[in-house]
Amino acid sequence: MEQIKRNILLNPGPATTTDSVKMAQVVPDICHREKEFSDIVKSVRNDLTKIAGGDNNYVAVLFGGSGTAGMDAIINSVIPPNQKILVINNGVYGNRIGQITKAYNIDLFELKFEWDQLPDTNKIEDILKEDNKIACVAMVHHETTTGLLNPVKEIGALVKKYNKVFIVDTISSFAGIPFNIKDFNIDFMMSTSNKCIQGMAGVFFVICKKQELEKIKDYPRRSFYLSLYDEYEYFEKNNEMRFTPPVQTIYALRKAIDEFFDEGAENRYLRYTKNWKKLRKGIEDIGFKILTNPEYESHLLITILYPEDSNFNFQMLHDKLYEKGFTIYPGKVGKLNTFRLANMGAIDQTDIEKFLFELKNTLDELGVKLV
Ligand SMILES: Cc1ncc(COP(=O)(O)O)c(C=O)c1O
Repeated sequence: MEQIKRNILLNPGPATTTDSVKMAQVVPDICHREKEFSDIVKSVRNDLTKIAGGDNNYVAVLFGGSGTAGMDAIINSVIPPNQKILVINNGVYGNRIGQITKAYNIDLFELKFEWDQLPDTNKIEDILKEDNKIACVAMVHHETTTGLLNPVKEIGALVKKYNKVFIVDTISSFAGIPFNIKDFNIDFMMSTSNKCIQGMAGVFFVICKKQELEKIKDYPRRSFYLSLYDEYEYFEKNNEMRFTPPVQTIYALRKAIDEFFDEGAENRYLRYTKNWKKLRKGIEDIGFKILTNPEYESHLLITILYPEDSNFNFQMLHDKLYEKGFTIYPGKVGKLNTFRLANMGAIDQTDIEKFLFELKNTLDELGVKLV
């Protein structure tokens, strides 16, 4: 077997994977309606629920598609007819929940905050108190736009105080930051196979509180393919996924979950945190400025302001680093020009050190002076 070139992905997903996860996709051809494959799907669903801290009262529903399809599946499925959703928006992904809501003509209250600030819980409570048409509240856990970690536990307690359904986008935090679906009072959350779980892109999953999932059974179907209840019910009745899933991605996900359990949730978070600290310090030592306060950061991503030097050109920096095996990622925050570095994935301290070394060399090659 040819050696697989190792690229270090510092974009916020798809993340760097191990060779063993890559190789897990190489399996004998199999139809997704065979019991052998369905047993794998079942084990994956059970383990994803476990990773979220869910027990028998929770269930994971698996689909083929990217994270945005997961946001879509929840939004089109769980808002009762003629009721409203409150969306907390402090970044691109909070904003996207609002866009999906509008696409389905669902009544929306969008509460916007600055993209480098955490949401104000008093404002959220005021709205929950005043507007009794609101049935659901949705927000993002790790806002991958900036690297801010939103206070989901605190907001979840509020949402439950007012007896609303709580939806959380945990796409870029699931398996990277230990948390518990029950402690956070989450009713529906989604993530994908290609971020902190360290698998391949192509699968998303929604983890649901069964009691809330049963309530949506007779809600109007706003989407045929992305109906959360129909996908759930089909697997429960037939022990098969409704439509053709990316079979090999699911084999890779099975392997990625095994590797997650081998590493352990706390150890993964610790590894990510160490990588984030090294990256953050290295970036500041080079002379870059970071957008957010480290206290509010997820430990999975940093947002870096473009330096003043007129020799700085993000695309040129990207292209040169890409040739050297490192992928960096653009990102604009309001009027500010920024780029992002994510440290999720199967990378370690040596990878971060090599990256910082190559970054410094490349800035020299481009004649960029920061200090
Ligand atoms: C928090 C969050 N939500 C949603 C998405 C959208 O996922 P996808 O690009 O897989 O559709 C992303 C992707 O980075 C994300 O980070």
